[in-house]
Amino acid sequence: MNTFFYGVLPYIALTIFIGGTIIRYTFFERGWTTKSSEFLAKKSLKWANPIFHLGLLMAFGGHVIGILVPKFVTEAAGTDEATYHMISLAGGLPAAVLFLGGFLWLMKRRFFGSARMKANTSSMDKLLYLVLLLTILSGTAGTLSNITAGFDYRESISPWFRSVLMLSPDVSLMKDVPAIFQFHMFMWMMTAILFPFTRLVHCLSLPFEYLMRSDIVYRRK
Ligand code: HEM
Repeated sequence: MNTFFYGVLPYIALTIFIGGTIIRYTFFERGWTTKSSEFLAKKSLKWANPIFHLGLLMAFGGHVIGILVPKFVTEAAGTDEATYHMISLAGGLPAAVLFLGGFLWLMKRRFFGSARMKANTSSMDKLLYLVLLLTILSGTAGTLSNITAGFDYRESISPWFRSVLMLSPDVSLMKDVPAIFQFHMFMWMMTAILFPFTRLVHCLSLPFEYLMRSDIVYRRK
């Protein structure tokens, strides 16, 4: 079981994520879109959207530092475990509040707003939102459950993830990881598998094209 979840499934997920995205971009570029709903309900996007994306960027930065930077590097830079934990909570908790709060706000707009919004939400959108909700909730629950620093993910999850990237997965590192974090791992893999088939692909365009392209003009009538 451990071997499948931490030695096989990550590669299935990453292969579909990278391969599927390349195939979609190469052969189905015309469908490469975030399917903007701004023209359906503009006002409700004003705060929920930036809050969600700010939380996302903060959480992303936290993941890069916590997962990709080895513990000995932060220690060599003079940050001991207790200080690291305080810094990570100071960034991680506001990130989780903005990320989850913004997401729930966007979902309220989508599912409890106008009928036009509901009509423009596909089955694939619904599946994606469920998977994203569970990923964000499990990450936030992991952070909250670990406020007292009983579990050190930089001794288990982080080196395991780096071993996956180095193509030599050390699944034994994940043996005693608490269930909530194991669930979080499963959910990010599900997110990666869904990625190429959903509107999430827009996040790859944003840094390269979005900021430079001309505005799309929506007329009221
Ligand atoms: C779709 C991708 C992912 C999403 C949406 C996501 C979401 C989240 C959120 C919202 C939090 C809580 C906020 C925070 O502490 O900043 C969190 C925490 C966490 N995530 Fe993720 N995550 C993803 C991928 C990953 C991956 C790939 C890993 C590792 C392999 C990971 C490991 C962790 C850990 C260890 C924590 C706890 C951090 C702490 O307590 O300081 N996550 N995640």
